[in-house]
Formats: sequence, C-alpha cells, structure tokens
Amino acid sequence: MRVMNSFFVKSVLGTVSMFFALGLSAASVQDNMSREAIAERIEPIGENYVAGESAAAEESSSGPRSGEQVYNTYCTACHTSGVMGAPKKGNAADWKPRLDQGMETVLKHAMEGFNAMPPMGTCSDCSKEEIQAAIDYMIKGT
Ligand code: HEC
Repeated sequence: MRVMNSFFVKSVLGTVSMFFALGLSAASVQDNMSREAIAERIEPIGENYVAGESAAAEESSSGPRSGEQVYNTYCTACHTSGVMGAPKKGNAADWKPRLDQGMETVLKHAMEGFNAMPPMGTCSDCSKEEIQAAIDYMIKGT
C-alpha cells in the first residue's frame, strides 16, 4: 500500500510538473515570438529616426548629403523591401520600366510623389540634386 501510494503521489506530481513546464515553455515561446514580431515592426522606424538625426547633423557641417546618405535615411524604409510595390534598390527588373519613362519623369515623380510614393520620398528638406543622387544610388548596378 505504501509503495502504491508513493507511486501514485509521484506520478501525480510528475504529471502536474510536466504540464507546468510545458505551459511555461509554450508561454515563453509565444512571448518571444510576439516580442520579436513587435521588434521587427518597429525597428525600421527606430533606425530611420536615429539615422535621420545623424544625417541632419552631417548636413549642417558638410553641405549636400550623398545619395547613399539620403537613401539610407529616407528611402530605405520602402525601397529596400519593396513595400507597396516600391521598386527595390539595385533590382534591374523593378527599375527597367521606370527608367524607360526617362529620368526626367522618374525624378519628377520622386519630387512630386506618385501613387504610394510620397513627395520627395519624405525627405522634405532634400534638394532636387539630393533626390537625384538618391535615385542614382538606388539604380546603381541595374
Ligand atoms: C513610404 C514609402 C516610400 C518611401 C519612403 C520612398 N518611396 Fe519611392 N516609391 C514608393 C512606391 C510605393 C513607389 C511605386 C509607386 C508606383 O509606381 O505606384 C515608389 C517609386 C519611386 C520611384 C519611381 C518613380 C517612377 O516614375 O516610376 C522613384 C524614383 C522613387 N520612388 C524614389 C524615391 C526616393 C529617392 C526616396 C527617398 C528620398 C523614396 N523614393 C522614398 C514608396 C516610397
């Protein structure tokens, strides 16, 4: 009877702690996943914000920003992943039909906005030359 009892107690405890452990690990996996998902969603904005500050600081000391600087600060948010159909940086297939319109039209669209493409790619204090430099940087290698 004693043996039976302790076996019973042990297996009940074992089952309970197993469920507890499973529950904990499931909870922490879920927690990690949502944290990762949230971090992923807010990351580009955080990056842009920080990069924007440093680019603005550089601008005041060293004149026009390079295409790379403008791209990394303002355009990368959409043109790296291609959200909303944005032509991706360095992707020849994405850029061919755009460039076929002629650079003048492409630049005009970038300056004035075009469908989901915001005017000046959100770089409201960019000069025409800086936008052009950013376009040149994006289409390099296409
Ligand atoms: C909020 C997202 C977003 C940002 C930021 C953005 N773009 Fe775009 N861009 C788009 C989308 C979407 C399109 C495609 C629009 C379409 O064809 O309907 C596009 C298209 C373009 C085109 C092609 C226009 C054409 O005539 O086909 C150029 C050039 C361009 N963007 C330049 C830039 C530059 C330069 C920057 C940064 C200074 C920038 N974009 C930032 C979303 C963005």
